[in-house]
Amino acid sequence: MSGFISFPDAITEALSLDYTDLPEACPDGGYITKNARGAAQPGILAFDEVQQFLSIAVRPKARVLDVGAGYGLVGLEAQRRGMAEDGEYTALDLDRRHLLVLAAELYKRGARPGMIRLLEGSFPTKEVLDCLEPASFDAILASRVFHFGFTREMCLAAFSAFGRLLKPGGVLLIRASTHHIGVYPSALRVETDALIKEFLHSKALQSHPEAHLPGFEPRPGRN
Ligand SMILES: C[S@@+](CC[C@H](N)C(=O)[O-])C[C@H]1O[C@@H](n2cnc3c(N)ncnc32)[C@H](O)[C@@H]1O
Repeated sequence: MSGFISFPDAITEALSLDYTDLPEACPDGGYITKNARGAAQPGILAFDEVQQFLSIAVRPKARVLDVGAGYGLVGLEAQRRGMAEDGEYTALDLDRRHLLVLAAELYKRGARPGMIRLLEGSFPTKEVLDCLEPASFDAILASRVFHFGFTREMCLAAFSAFGRLLKPGGVLLIRASTHHIGVYPSALRVETDALIKEFLHSKALQSHPEAHLPGFEPRPGRN
């Protein structure tokens, strides 16, 4: 199903299904998604591209789109910083449950209904694109979304859609990296992160410039 979910409907549904809170945070601070598409990370708020997106989102009359918003942590931060009365933030996600949690969090924080529009659907399908006005966004953010089943064709379609959706001079902000592929238990992720940090700070790199990051060693027969 694709389309906007009204704020009152989202609140009613969130209450009836008990999606009223963010899930319990993992040891690394992330909130596991309900559809096993990684975790929403509060740490992304410090990233340059997210900071730039936020600075645009709080301007008067700003219209911004967050693709693969997850639980809407960036939107919640925009609301916390104080979005303009005439600003509009569209949080788009594949999974309705994430948007219900976002609605519940916004409600608890006393956000103005309509300040953050909740759009359920898969980007860049026609159903989703039909909901979005061409040349209407000052900024689009896609943070850590592109590795989830995006084929080459989907990526090309996504970038062409971004071009159509942005206003002239609008800004596209992408983070196309992830520190894990697929469903990766959070304890294992923390352990791997520690191994990689240790490796990067060790002398191994200076003495063996060809040394591989732990977990990224080439497998025999593959290049
Ligand atoms: C790893 S989370 C990232 C959440 C947040 N953007 C961040 O950086 O913390 C990926 C999110 O993208 C959503 N997603 C994946 N593919 C999508 C698609 N084709 N269209 C819309 N959302 C998608 C998932 O449902 C999930 O909530």
